[in-house]
Amino acid sequence: MEIHKYEKLWLAGALLLIVGFIATVSYGAVGAGVEMIDNDGGQVDPDSLDQHPKFGEPGTYASEDGDYDVYVVAQQFAFVPGTEEPVRVPANSEVTFHVTSRDVIHGYEIVGTNANTMAIPGQVATMTVEFNEAGEYGLLCNEYCGSAHHAMEGKIVVVP
Ligand code: CUA
Repeated sequence: MEIHKYEKLWLAGALLLIVGFIATVSYGAVGAGVEMIDNDGGQVDPDSLDQHPKFGEPGTYASEDGDYDVYVVAQQFAFVPGTEEPVRVPANSEVTFHVTSRDVIHGYEIVGTNANTMAIPGQVATMTVEFNEAGEYGLLCNEYCGSAHHAMEGKIVVVP
């Protein structure tokens, strides 16, 4: 009878640990001042990105409700915008990134945060991020995409 009791306790403990792990994975890994609050997407033709109303001119668009939409094209081996020109948004804004690829699969990761998505040709990855602190955030590609993969990086500038 004693053993049965301990076994139950041990099981309950193991269950608690599992729940704890899941909670950590779901809510825990948040970088300084940045929170990913949405991640969902759509489709786009990778061969006619230049004709797309937004991906044809990738960049930052202000929306009516005071938030921002950033349309990003990833390609070997740059983010547009992000590599030559940084993404620039004000602090305390909610920014929805729409990310696609022109060629192969890339990654789009805001360094030091849990904001991270894949850039897949033909698909639009959408993620919404809150920037609560001004500063510079690095961008990097975390999917192997060719010879200069390691050099594929960029920048987001959050202005006060
Ligand atoms: Cu793009 Cu690795």
